[in-house]
Amino acid sequence: MKQKLLDTFKEKYGYDTGVNVYFAPGRVNLIGEHTDYNGGHVFPCALTIGTYAAAALREDRKLRFYSMNFEEQGITETSLDELTTDIKLGWTDYPRGIMWAFEGRGLKITKGMDIVIYGNIPNGSGLSSSASLEVLTGYMLSDLFGLNVSNKDLALIGQYSENNFNGCKCGIMDQFASAMGKKDNAIFLDCNTLEYEYAPVKLEDARIVVTNSMVKHSLVTSAYNDRRNESAEALRCLQTVLDIKSLGEINEAEFEANKHVIENEIARKRGKHAVYENQRTIKAVAALKNNDIVTFGKLMNESHDSLKNDYETSCEECDILAETARTIDGVIGSRITGGGFGGCTVSIVRNDAVEIFKEKIALVYKEKTGITPEFYVVDIGDGPHKL
Ligand code: GLA
Repeated sequence: MKQKLLDTFKEKYGYDTGVNVYFAPGRVNLIGEHTDYNGGHVFPCALTIGTYAAAALREDRKLRFYSMNFEEQGITETSLDELTTDIKLGWTDYPRGIMWAFEGRGLKITKGMDIVIYGNIPNGSGLSSSASLEVLTGYMLSDLFGLNVSNKDLALIGQYSENNFNGCKCGIMDQFASAMGKKDNAIFLDCNTLEYEYAPVKLEDARIVVTNSMVKHSLVTSAYNDRRNESAEALRCLQTVLDIKSLGEINEAEFEANKHVIENEIARKRGKHAVYENQRTIKAVAALKNNDIVTFGKLMNESHDSLKNDYETSCEECDILAETARTIDGVIGSRITGGGFGGCTVSIVRNDAVEIFKEKIALVYKEKTGITPEFYVVDIGDGPHKL
């Protein structure tokens, strides 16, 4: 992979001295969906697929970007003086946003750069291709300019940039999972405090299978931002009777005892999901620690149902994938993962059932939707690094 990036760099920019190659992973979230911005817990893991960059410093302030995933767009040329939110330049807004956020924090970017990007996360799959590009850029800048930014700060800068440069009010999960990833471990993160713990994912006779629905419904960003507002409304109502700062602070019983103060039915459903999903995540991690994978799977299924019925961020295609998965022997649990409205499901499948799983899901899904899904039997990888 390194050579492929170096070759492309030479071909596009005509030189090959002073070029460094970096990688940052995508992520899959095992459980804890739409809980991050509600002050709850999440349980994602970094993948071995992600985004790569080959980059070299220039002597002027010019920035040149080339993506091997968008070859038809050619080289985008801009400069450090054009790092403003009112200039929009397609996919380069992600790396440009990180440079802008570095500058905003007083982390000086003093020279221009030539950059080649390549990602092997399927686009729009909900496996955090954007967060991996953000963390990758931060890691690269920190190294090229000797800034020693911690991986935790890379996650925070990534989220800040996505919120304020790219306009998606995402939580911290994706950037944190990418920046803090650890091979064979998932990250149990308390998004209220950013305290975290690595939990080994020892599935022994099972694998994590990601199924790509191959659909991404429109208005994802606006629907996502709506969910944030609706759960914020649930919180505001509960705060009239409870002394809390986030939905992550209460359990199911406290929610049930006070939910009547949330008059708007939609907000009540959103609040319910946020509270119950957070508790499910805490229980799921405890189950995994006890090697009780069956309970873990059951909680994954409940998570999907809650995202479908109460949070309404699933979609028909992902419901078919998750619900068909449950009918297959050897499937421990299955749910939609990530922001929703399309993208992927994540399933835990016994080794000897993986082939049957793929066959049966592909058949049923194609029959019902006309679409051929993709499957990725994934491994849990490390955070960003230099190659
Ligand atoms: C997207 C966001 C995350 C998180 C998930 C839902 O991936 O970027 O912050 O909110 O959706 O769990």
